[in-house]
Amino acid sequence: MSELNFSKDKKLILSLIQPTGNSFTLGNYIGAISNWDKLQSEYNCVYGIADLHAITVRQDPAELRKNSLRAYASMLACGIDPQRSVAFFQSHNKCHAELSWVLGCSTQFGELSRMTQFKDKSAKHADNINAGLFTYPVLMAADILAYNADLVPIGIDQKQHLELARNIAQRFNQKYGDFFTLPEPYIPKTGEKVMSLQDPAKKMSKSDENPNACIFILDDKDTVIRKFKRAVTDSEAEVRYAEGKGGINNLMTIYSCFTGKNYSEIESEFSGRGYGDFKLAVGETVADRLEPIRNEFNRLINDKAYLKECYTEGAQRAQSITQRTISKVYHKVGFVDAR
Ligand code: TYM
Repeated sequence: MSELNFSKDKKLILSLIQPTGNSFTLGNYIGAISNWDKLQSEYNCVYGIADLHAITVRQDPAELRKNSLRAYASMLACGIDPQRSVAFFQSHNKCHAELSWVLGCSTQFGELSRMTQFKDKSAKHADNINAGLFTYPVLMAADILAYNADLVPIGIDQKQHLELARNIAQRFNQKYGDFFTLPEPYIPKTGEKVMSLQDPAKKMSKSDENPNACIFILDDKDTVIRKFKRAVTDSEAEVRYAEGKGGINNLMTIYSCFTGKNYSEIESEFSGRGYGDFKLAVGETVADRLEPIRNEFNRLINDKAYLKECYTEGAQRAQSITQRTISKVYHKVGFVDAR
């Protein structure tokens, strides 16, 4: 195994993504993964596929395995460098589940009941409101705290979970003495919540039933352009960022994230031009950005041996960081030392 090349002077970044579905969404990319990539040059980074979290909703085992490998290959295709950063599967490091148990024993039923994602998901999966769905945020806190992460790059929908992780850490520190780092969220100012192309009041999500609502990062150029052409807008014909123009605001946000232009620059660029022109420009810009990712994904997914080498090493590196945390936590809570 190559040595963990983390510098002692750099802060630690950690984030995970669920492997549900065939591919990541444009929301995942803009809200999280594109930032994961950028942060690698300045920080020590740990990035993973949250397969333990994925089974909080029903999964077909063969599909989950396939999707998890695709998610790992997608993560690398998006620029995560398995030499520089730790890139691993959550289930390959037992410390996550072990720490989750300990933290769960001081997390209150009331605080977990307030999690909006739990409420949403239990409404959506009313026939499977399992204990894992309820304690999901404790596992997420364990993911973060096991590495003593300083910063967690996420979209806005995960902010409440991060706040809970901070509370859990604070409570532990109060009881057992300062130990866990309090993690800060790293949420992009633009693109913190990419909305559905078919209903701009809803988050873009891979579980949306309408296939035109969501762009997947592995969609081909024609598909991307077609979905943007069909995006819901409004009855005006002016490209302008304003209240009540959710559809256009969302497209402007996406365009801004990919071109670096601010809203007034985009308004000038499309002044006097209709929505058709604007939608085509957004579609082409997004498709051009996604093309090299798709090509790299196709190369990687056919090289299973290389992927295995990367995730095996990723798991070893992840364990080398978290094993010390677990041993100290077990000692602090009063377990007899194993050695
Ligand atoms: P997940 O898999 O739902 O999403 C992965 C990341 O993508 C962001 N995201 C979005 N950002 C902007 N607009 C959207 N429409 C959009 N949809 C998703 C999410 O905020 C997230 O950052 N519980 C987490 C995974 C997780 C995790 C962790 C994250 C497990 N352990 C530890 C951080 C740290 C989740 O389900 O994300």
